[in-house]
Formats: sequence, C-alpha cells, structure tokens
Amino acid sequence: MILLNPGPVNVTERVRQALLRPDICHRESEFTELLYRIQSKLLKAFVPGAESDYVAVVITGSGTSAVEAALLSSLPHGRRMLILNNGVYGERMSQIIGLHRLGVSELKYDWISRPDPDKLLLALRQHQEVHVVGMVHHETTTGLLNPVHEIAEIVDNQNRVFVLDSVSALAGEMLNIAKSHIYMVTGTAGKCIQGFPGVSFVLVRKGFVEKMRGYPKRSWYLHLMHYIDSEGRGTIPFTPAVQVYYAFDEALSELLEEGVANRVQRYKKMASLIRDRMAQLGVRALLPPDRQSNTITAYYLPEGVSYQTLHDRLKASGYVIYSGQGNLENKIFRVANMGALTEAQVHGFLDAFEQASKSA
Ligand SMILES: Cc1ncc(COP(=O)(O)O)c(C=O)c1O
Repeated sequence: MILLNPGPVNVTERVRQALLRPDICHRESEFTELLYRIQSKLLKAFVPGAESDYVAVVITGSGTSAVEAALLSSLPHGRRMLILNNGVYGERMSQIIGLHRLGVSELKYDWISRPDPDKLLLALRQHQEVHVVGMVHHETTTGLLNPVHEIAEIVDNQNRVFVLDSVSALAGEMLNIAKSHIYMVTGTAGKCIQGFPGVSFVLVRKGFVEKMRGYPKRSWYLHLMHYIDSEGRGTIPFTPAVQVYYAFDEALSELLEEGVANRVQRYKKMASLIRDRMAQLGVRALLPPDRQSNTITAYYLPEGVSYQTLHDRLKASGYVIYSGQGNLENKIFRVANMGALTEAQVHGFLDAFEQASKSA
C-alpha cells in the first residue's frame, strides 16, 4: 500500500530489515551504544555545527509524547504559557496545558492563517507572566507552514522560551534551530525521518536544561529531566521499543547519507508533481502556494464526490489518502508526500486519482 497520509510512512527495505536485529536488554551496553548513536545522529542532522549546545532526548511514544513532555517540563511554578493556535495540533498544545490546570493563553487564528509576529510581540510585552510560547511548525491539519524564524526571533528577544512542535516538519522543511535559539523542538521517527512510529524526541538547548531542573515534576513518564539524567548515564528510565530504535537508527543513517537539504528538496519535488497535476485536473488547493509545506497538500473535494468514495476508490487501487479534520472534515482531503516514495508511485497515484475523482 502506498501511504499518502502524514505518517506512518512507507519506509525503505533497509529500515524495515533493521527491525530484525538481535534481541537485546535495554540495561546492557549494546542498548547504550544504540541510544548514543541515535542521539548523535539527531544532533548532526538537526543542529549541525551546534551539536554541543543541544541535548537530544529520546522517548518511546508517538509525537504527542514528545510534545507533552516538552510542554510539561518547560514551565516554572506560577508562570503561563502562550500558544499560537492555528490548527488541530496548536489546539492540542493548549489542551495539554489546560488538562494539567496550568495557565494557558492563546492567540487563535483560523486554520488557513498564519500567526502574526507583531501581535505576539505586543502580547509578550503586555504579559510578563508568560514564560513559554508554543507553536506548531507545520500544521498538519492543512499543510500550512508557520513563520518559525520570525516568531523565534521575537520569543528570543523577549527572553522567553520557545517550544516548537516540529513533529511533521523535521527533515521535510529547512529549520535552523541553533541560529534561532529555539529552546525545545519536538520530532518523531515515523514521518519525514522515514522510520517507524513509536519513538519520538525533544531537542533541548543545554543552557535551558539547568533551569528546567528546578521546575515541578508534573508527569512520571513525561518528565524530561528524568530522561536527560538517565540518558546522560547511557540508559533510559522506561523500557524502550528496542526494535523500533534499531529502525530509527537506520532511518537516521539514511537521512544523513541523503543529507537533510536533499531530503527536503526531494519532498519539494514530489509535492510539485502532485500540485502541478492537480492544477491541470482543476482540483482546488485549500492554501495559496506561499503557505504550503513541502509535504502535505490539502484540496477541496471534487464536485459530486464524497471523501469516503474518493478514499475507497483510491484504496482499492493501492493508495491511502487522508481526510480533513474538524470543520474541514467533509470539505477537503489531504495528500502527503512524506516517506520513501518514488516518482513512479506518485505518478501512479495521480493516474488513479484522475479516475477516482470522476463523479458517479
Ligand atoms: C504537528 C503535529 N504534532 C503532533 C502530532 C502528534 O503525533 P502522534 O500522532 O504521533 O502522537 C502530529 C501528528 O500528526 C502532528 O502532525
């Protein structure tokens, strides 16, 4: 099956085969070596040249575990968080903080608009109680790319902490984490890194780690300091999904061999193939090109064809597309081009789409 949903993604045979390596105990040196390899590859891929300024914290869990860990671990007593919310995943950040009864404010936007850096600046000047600003890098809800560097600059100039959910963007979009002084960036194995779901990570700026040490512990499983201290000793606090780590390690090797910039270009090219053909077919995109990411395109459903019909016809041909969420549920469909896809597979999908989108 060709997966055109934003994770899990199709992986290479090399990554799949890595699942079959020997059974090991996570309290043995073999696991320590695996963990250190993963951490060092993460730093090399995402903070090149500034590896010593960041720590890569690896967590067994889906992307949400990394986001929740970053949020819960970054807030001192009595301070608030400000979330820039323009989609399902921004909303989720707010909900996580609200659920734990921690102070959260929002700058909320409709799902096709970008957060406004000037409004953020004003809010941070007016609200000294805000300690952390949270934002999603690539809103998977619509495929919208948020203005990370502009927002990061304001957060940094205002001496606040930036938590960036880059779960669906890392390795799919260029991001200069170190240059923008971003304190926390969350990512996951099973999207643009082309590993399997089940392992996620937070890149944390070292200067912030010692500050976090004094912050309250709000979760047993998701307290980042617990991971940082254990992983510093070469172990992990909880039983990891060892085989998924093997595959993650291999996927990171593939990423480094390809090069992050080349991976980003490959995805950009795949997205162009899809966008050009869809435009020829008269299928209307939800977002203007300057807001679109390299890896997801949201389209209005063709006239007279329901999502379910389109989905089922395509699935019968071997392609999985993705529905809209919330109030876009019955209006749009999404096509992701993350993963080990070939151009031939993308053309195959587009041919199948042309047939499947005909009404009746
Ligand atoms: C931007 C973003 N953040 C967080 C998540 C949550 O990841 P998971 O479903 O792996 O928990 C997703 C999932 O698609 C996402 O796209």
